[in-house]
Amino acid sequence: MNKLINNSENIHYAAELIKKGDIVVFPTETVYGIGANALDKVAVSKIFKIKERAKDNPLIVHISSKSMLNKLVKSYSKLEEKLMDAFWPGPFTIVLKKKQEVPYEVTAGLDTIGIRMPESKVAIELISTAGVPIAAPSANISGKPSGTRLEDIEEEFKDKQLYAIDGGCSNYGIESTVVTVKENEVIILRPGSITIEDISKICSNVKYDEKIFKKVSQIETVSSPGMKYKHYAPSIPGVLIKWEKDKDIIEKVIKEIKTKKDEKIIILASRESIETAKYNNYSNINKIFNMGSKNDLKEISRNIFHLLRKIDKEDATYYIVEGIEEKGLGISIINRIIRAVEYNVV
Ligand code: TXA
Ligand code: MG
Repeated sequence: MNKLINNSENIHYAAELIKKGDIVVFPTETVYGIGANALDKVAVSKIFKIKERAKDNPLIVHISSKSMLNKLVKSYSKLEEKLMDAFWPGPFTIVLKKKQEVPYEVTAGLDTIGIRMPESKVAIELISTAGVPIAAPSANISGKPSGTRLEDIEEEFKDKQLYAIDGGCSNYGIESTVVTVKENEVIILRPGSITIEDISKICSNVKYDEKIFKKVSQIETVSSPGMKYKHYAPSIPGVLIKWEKDKDIIEKVIKEIKTKKDEKIIILASRESIETAKYNNYSNINKIFNMGSKNDLKEISRNIFHLLRKIDKEDATYYIVEGIEEKGLGISIINRIIRAVEYNVV
């Protein structure tokens, strides 16, 4: 991988690569993306190849201005436009009906397309300089945690001929909220930093797709193909200790530590519990990773994917993630952790 320092000259260089059908890693405020010209099906197929991504999992298309929508979608409703105006630029993706010109390689055969206008200045400059919408999934091999720091992405794609713009650590750290509108109801297909509470301020009729929190099989019909796939998973097994009102989370974690005497354990815990819990007293504890303050969920969301990746660098056999309150951004973070531990929750 070839690292490009974030400056205007390099963004222009990357935009040229996109225009001529190459793929480029670039920062966004959510996670890093690995992008190609969304209207060039050959370029788009390179993304699927390098990520080893399932052919039926569609890509999100990134735009730098609302006028780019005309190239991609037939029309949108008043409510859809209200949502775009409220949350763009930002960590928000909306699924709309695609125009014929958008290759099915991008939408994985669907007649709909997920679109997002990022707020990251680098991403916006890259898209507007290239002058084309950029299709980009998260920059990681499919199944692994999304890339939020260039060092992590470099490790993953080290043998690949690939240019990457360095944008430092991703600000939000988890991927965008994905929604669709059906009969004036907003349905959240993937929770993110724009929460159900934020959307409720624009439209009172909003709900989660019921499959967001459940394990779905490969053959099930889902509203968003990404729901079916293994995600964010370290290579060793783990468990999420669910946060419960009036229950001491530290006690619950210790109970779990005691049942895993033969394992070498990594714990992901909040800063507050690391300060009070005596996790180090247990000989089967290998490492303790600080997720951030439980009173600052943005800090935890920025760190979570990086820590899930770090697990694989340690000599451990099992990991325990301390739960956080499932409210607001907490719901989106827990949605990622549940998938990382492959639904092993106690
Ligand atoms: O924050 C983000 O969204 C990042 C950055 C790079 O923008 N991108 C990202 O892309 O997370 P990816 O490919 O890792 O996840 C895209 C998700 C998948 O779950 C996919 O199924 C869903 O969006 N999606 C895309 N197009 C869709 C469509 N037409 N209908 C339903 N779901 C769609
Ligand atoms: Mg992804």
